Parts: sequence; structure tokens; C-alpha cells
Amino acid sequence: MNIILQLSRKTFNTCIRKRLLLRHLQNEQGERSLKQYCSIHTSVTLYCKTYILGIETSCDDTGAAVVDNGGNILGEALNSQTDIHVQLGGIIPPVARDLHRQNIDDVVKLAMDRAKLKYEELNAIAVTVKPGLALSLAVGINYAKDLALKFRKPLIPIHHMEAHALTPRIETRIDFPYLVLLASGGHCLLAAAQGVDQFKLIGKGQDNSPGEAFDKIARRLKLITLPGMQGLSGGAAIEQLAQRGDPKSIEFPNSLSKHPNCNFSFAGLQTQANYFIAEIEKQNDIKGPEVIPGVADFCASFQYAITRHICQRVQRGLIYSDMKELITTDKKQMVLSGGVGSNMFVRRSLEKVCKHYNFELVCPPPKLCTDNGVMIAWNGMERLNANCGVLEDESAIKLVDLEHRAPLGMDITQDVTEAGIKIRSSSKVKLL
Ligand code: KG4
Ligand code: ZN
Repeated sequence: MNIILQLSRKTFNTCIRKRLLLRHLQNEQGERSLKQYCSIHTSVTLYCKTYILGIETSCDDTGAAVVDNGGNILGEALNSQTDIHVQLGGIIPPVARDLHRQNIDDVVKLAMDRAKLKYEELNAIAVTVKPGLALSLAVGINYAKDLALKFRKPLIPIHHMEAHALTPRIETRIDFPYLVLLASGGHCLLAAAQGVDQFKLIGKGQDNSPGEAFDKIARRLKLITLPGMQGLSGGAAIEQLAQRGDPKSIEFPNSLSKHPNCNFSFAGLQTQANYFIAEIEKQNDIKGPEVIPGVADFCASFQYAITRHICQRVQRGLIYSDMKELITTDKKQMVLSGGVGSNMFVRRSLEKVCKHYNFELVCPPPKLCTDNGVMIAWNGMERLNANCGVLEDESAIKLVDLEHRAPLGMDITQDVTEAGIKIRSSSKVKLL
């Protein structure tokens, strides 16, 4: 642990016996009494730097990063498998596992090298343990456990969605409670974050996630065959093409419009999109790798349909949150994160909805929205500071296991339905 003493010259000269202090610094007992000294002499501030290594392997990205307690990212590394999975037509779990196994050692070592730290200098190791692909999660967990046991470091098991929800706090001041919308390749949920490990689930996905819908439709549209699309995720490819398309050219149905809750559903939109594509292909006699005419218009319309659905569910969530006084801070905030949260059209649209209800929308930079090691390391730091879920015992560390499925927080979606909030068409926030 590095200790920096920050004190005024006067305090230093008059109140502190320097030699005694230096002796104190040389052992842990000294460190404790120094802390005690500083708590009595309030003019002396003691800064203890803490470092956490975070490891992420819940899906198809092998990520590692080291952050300090000041929110500085000291070193990070990421190996994305997107390219390979796009070529294979989707994530194949054993392939994802093998790629994690091949890359994890290099990724972690690179993050540590960039941080210029030795494992001995870490204060803890955080690792994603839930939810995610079991085969992928296991690689990160086993690696992190081995490191923690070898270097006698505490292990902090992390919930992947909790990490997405807390990530923006690394660089922006966001006080609890706040709302959070997580939209990714595996999930879509709206929750109230009340503390580091306290969440109330306001809306949840009923079927496919928005990222999955983007990925599957991008594949069905054969976007990978277009120039400049290689290596992009389905969502990113659709966003790029949508920029030069007309979002009103194709009308998609409005999912769950009669359900007075904040739950999400993207399966209907995906089915409808597949149907439209098949129709256009038939009309234009398209076979093989050829892409449909007006693909940019199609992408813009599909992106708009997904965004409109998200925005309408969130609009009810904001009304519910006000009704139940869930957000008590002076400045009401909503965080948007997860891979789909890096979509600029989604961001701009949600901003309009938030503004209407006096909420500020906070989005991490796009590279922190998709999966990465920083979010896990930062979640570890938040948990270390709050002293929750930090495992120090060797036996407890050995017992850490993965959970393929894991809901986030307390489910209050039934209460949302019972609130019976109706939003008339004329009250829906206009997005275009
Ligand atoms: O959070 P994430 O990296 O991994 C999961 O935990 O799922 O999200 C990946 C998902 C993919 O489905 C990808 O298509 C989507 O996020 N995505 C996007 C964009 N960038 C990534 N969706 C829409 N627009 C984007 N720009
Ligand atoms: Zn994610």
C-alpha cells in the first residue's frame, strides 16, 4: 500500500515528529497507528492508494484492467472475439471458451504491465461470476481464483449487470439513488440503483435482448458483405447504415403497447423484420449474398422501432419513479449503459425522454458501455470501499462459483403493473 501524507508545512513542523512517522510507515501496525493519529489530528490527511485488478470473461470479450481508488484507469487490455463470432454466425460457447483460454494470460499481463504494477501491490482481484455463458465465466473465475490464492489477495465476485450500472461513477459524480437502463446483447432492464449492491428492478426483458435483435437482423441482412462493416457488431453496423436512411420508410409494430408495465420485448420486432426482409428479397428476386435494395432505410426504420420501444417503456418508468419518489436526489439522474447504450440514436432519443421528466441522462463513453475489464475493476473498488462481498478467506475464495442466470436486485415489476400508468399517444415523447 502506498501512503502519501498530505499536510500543511506548519502542521508538519510543529505537530509531527518526523522520525516517529517514518518508523510508523515501515510496518502494518505502524500504518494503523498512523491512521489513528490522522483521525485525531484532523489537519492531517492520509491518502492510501488502493489498486484493483478486474477480469471480465462473461461472454465474448476477454477484458482486464487495473483501477485505483481515485477512479484512474492505470492499465487495461481487451481481446474482442466479435470478428470471429460474426463470421461464425453467432456466439458458439465452446469457441468463446477456447478463445478466452488462449487470451486471458496475455490480456491480464498486458493490463498489469500497462499499470506498471506487480501482483503483490494489488489490494484485491475482482472477477465477473454472473450472469453469462457458463463456459466463458469459468475461464475468468478460475484464473482470478488462482491469482488470488497465489498472491494471497482478497477476491471480489462481481455481478456483470451491477458493474455496467456502476461504471459511469468512475468519472462522473452520480449519487445514489439513480435510475439505470442496461441494454446489451444479453439483457435489457430498467432499475433503481440505491446502493452499490442494492437495486430495484422496475422493468425486465421478456424475450430477446435489443442487442440480440440487432445482431440477428444484421446477419439476416448480410451486412458483413458490405464494405467497412467487417469487425463491427450487428448493432454498430446497423447504426452506421441507419445514418443515411429514412427511419419512417418502414413501419414496425409497437410491442407491448397495451401492457402497462416497463418490461421489454424485442422478439416480435425481430420476427417482423425477418418477414419484411423475406418479402423484399422475394419481390426483388434476391438470392445468395446480395443485399436488399434500400438497406439503409431498413436499418434506420429497425433502429427507430427498437429505440421507440425502449423509450416508451422508460417513459413509464420515469413516471413510476416520480410517483413512488424513488429518486430523492436534487438532481435526478438516469444512467444508460450496456453495448446498445453506445448507439447515438438511442442516446439522443432517451435524452429527450429524460429531459421531459427533468432527469439528466448520463452515458459512459461508448468504449465503457460494451464489456471491458475497467467496469469489473471499478465495481470491485466500489465493493471494497463499501466493504461488501470481499472474500479474504482461502476457503471462501475456493468456493466461488459461477451463476449462468442471476437477476439484478429486488423485482418490483408487479408493483409497476399495479400502478396502472397509462400513457396516451398524445403524451408520448416525440423522437423524430
Ligand atoms: O454489453 P455488451 O458488450 O455485451 C453484453 O453483455 O451483451 O453488448 C453487446 C451488444 C451486441 O449485441 C451489439 O450488437 C450491441 O451490444 N451493440 C450495439 C452497438 N454497439 C454494440 N447496438 C446498437 N448500436 C451500437 N452502436
Ligand atoms: Zn455487458
